[in-house]
Amino acid sequence: MKKISLKQNTIFIFDSGLGGITIFNYIKNIFFNINFIYLLDNKYFPYGNKSSNFILKRLIKILEKISNNYNISLAIIACNTASVSSLPNIRNYFNFPIIGVTPAIDLAIKKTKNNVIGLLATHTTIKNNKIKEKINFLKKKYEIKIISSSKLVFLAEKKLLGYKIVINDIKKIFNSWFNLTIFPDTIILGCTHFPLILNELKIIFPQNTYFLDSKKNIVLKFKKNINSNKTILKKKNNIIFYTKKNKYINKIKILFLNQGFKDILNLKI
Ligand code: DGL
Repeated sequence: MKKISLKQNTIFIFDSGLGGITIFNYIKNIFFNINFIYLLDNKYFPYGNKSSNFILKRLIKILEKISNNYNISLAIIACNTASVSSLPNIRNYFNFPIIGVTPAIDLAIKKTKNNVIGLLATHTTIKNNKIKEKINFLKKKYEIKIISSSKLVFLAEKKLLGYKIVINDIKKIFNSWFNLTIFPDTIILGCTHFPLILNELKIIFPQNTYFLDSKKNIVLKFKKNINSNKTILKKKNNIIFYTKKNKYINKIKILFLNQGFKDILNLKI
């Protein structure tokens, strides 16, 4: 595997696909002296219908491989599905900090005025016990309308790769919401892919709808873990790994080259 100097900080960012870019874009401009490795596990994309057990084992395997070859200062699981499936257990296997993203439910209850909250996430995230417990507890005071959709994940990925997506295809996913007497005024984007289609969601939903993703949370956690200053690295060496060569790889390469990544490599795992 290609080595990065051990003196350099390296942040490892993981997602099943391209959704983690929404997290990467947010943190790359805050920290300058850090190399990033982004791994998209496109071999098993999407994660949204996989079991938590499968996801935990897969992540352990990937993190072992990466951390055996790179000096990882921090791993960010930039995927709600993988985070709820693997945290906190996965921390027992590694000696570097690992943080993740989870649906911003706590922020949503602070934000909502009509006490109707929408939650968009994958099936595996919604089925997660901790998430279910939290929702059941909040049901006493709030109405929580849940939609889990892997189609939305695919549409977001398609859009990022430059394909045309049809607003009506997105709208159909929310059919059941359009009959509600009170519409959610706050919608949680509980999957890192969904901010990629925020503009489309804004067209579909009433103008005053408030959308919440988990970006802000992660930066707070991130700052606690990494000592970063404003010294710009002379030689940035951001690397992207993908786990399967498919027909989208060339488009994915261009996408990441435009984001300042230098090496795009296939990790056979
Ligand atoms: N980006 C992932 C998340 O935040 C989900 C995508 C998938 O289903 O693989 O949950």
